[in-house]
Amino acid sequence: MNGAIGVFDSGVGGLTVVKEIIEKLPNETIYFFGDTANCPYGDKTKEQIIENVDKAIKFLIDKNIKIIILACNTATAAALDILKSKYNVPILGVINAGVKEAIKSTKNKKVVVLGTRYTINSNIYPNELKKENNEIEVFGKSCPSFVPFIEEGKYKDSNLSFELVREELKNFDIKGSDTIVLGCTHYPILKDSIEKFYGSDINIVSPSKEVSVELVNELTKYDILSKEKIDDDILFISKNDKNFHETAKNLLYKNIFIKNLDEIKE
Ligand code: DGL
Repeated sequence: MNGAIGVFDSGVGGLTVVKEIIEKLPNETIYFFGDTANCPYGDKTKEQIIENVDKAIKFLIDKNIKIIILACNTATAAALDILKSKYNVPILGVINAGVKEAIKSTKNKKVVVLGTRYTINSNIYPNELKKENNEIEVFGKSCPSFVPFIEEGKYKDSNLSFELVREELKNFDIKGSDTIVLGCTHYPILKDSIEKFYGSDINIVSPSKEVSVELVNELTKYDILSKEKIDDDILFISKNDKNFHETAKNLLYKNIFIKNLDEIKE
């Protein structure tokens, strides 16, 4: 089957995953859906998240998609199981990849997970990490100020970014953890500031690289790796936003087709 790879996120965060996929699989075509009209997802209820992601997945499936990546921890936590049971198209989330990276990284079995309110409150990271190793201690911290800041393009100011990171994390005790998981695909955009705040002794990991490895494994398993691109990569966004255009250019280092949809047509 020669379809595109569908990638979903609430906004620009998923582009950190798209970047890895483009690098690893240059012959694949990517159709990305950024639900900018409904971002942020992190403060929504499970029902609201499922409803929004479901609309986006239907949109992507109508576009000849062979596999879908939920490049969003919040959507993975709330909707992955439901969507997998609803659709025949293979769907991959990002949390499994984040868990693998954390297990590879931690020596002292103390791990911090930074994520949205929904992801942290769902306890999905501690639950999944403990399935891998019951001795691991997990300390979750939601950082609700990060996603709006990134979506507004303010991350381009490194001083402002560091201030925000410091404000959000200064009272959070990491209890000697040696690993920090960026459990929201937006957060790698603030990685330099997070690294500066915690210093070099702490390893900061994110799911994006491992997701692209899992993607290659899935495409190989179903024998659906592409030999050549079938179309330009396209980023669909549910609400036009000049910051999205700018961030896409900054992150992906190229001009890329962006199509604005006023709303997802039912
Ligand atoms: N990028 C997302 C995540 O990985 C969602 C952020 C949001 O919309 O709150 O959780």
